[in-house]
Amino acid sequence: MYSEKVMDHFKNPRNMGEIEGAKGVGTVGNAKCGDIMRMYLDIDENGVIKEAKFKTFGCGAAIATSSMATELVTGKTVQDALKVTNRAVMEALDGLPPVKVHCSLLAEEAIHAALWDYAKKNGIVIEGLKEPVEDIEEIEANKSEI
Ligand code: FES
Repeated sequence: MYSEKVMDHFKNPRNMGEIEGAKGVGTVGNAKCGDIMRMYLDIDENGVIKEAKFKTFGCGAAIATSSMATELVTGKTVQDALKVTNRAVMEALDGLPPVKVHCSLLAEEAIHAALWDYAKKNGIVIEGLKEPVEDIEEIEANKSEI
């Protein structure tokens, strides 16, 4: 049911933990399943993500997508990190079962929430970044059909 990559990132999650004094921190949840994900980003003065870490209270797919998301955004500019969509995370994991697509949305939204926090703290606007939601259930309906 799960790809080898999903199982690998679930069993050996990369970048799990927190970053003290992170430049951006974002937390999102899904009220329906009760899962919560928190993303920490360390961003340098050029707007490049130097480090990303996560803490996820959730299912195996949520842990695997958090892990992969941190790997995908590390080394990217904040602009390019916006392109790390839930679809990109799923592709990097060789797919997820349809009922688990919403778990990857948590990863996308947690990145956006952390970037939003970073932008707010620094008084900047990241083009294309919308204010994140705390509960992804409200956007899930549109996206899970992708
Ligand atoms: Fe809720 Fe996976 S079941 S995030």
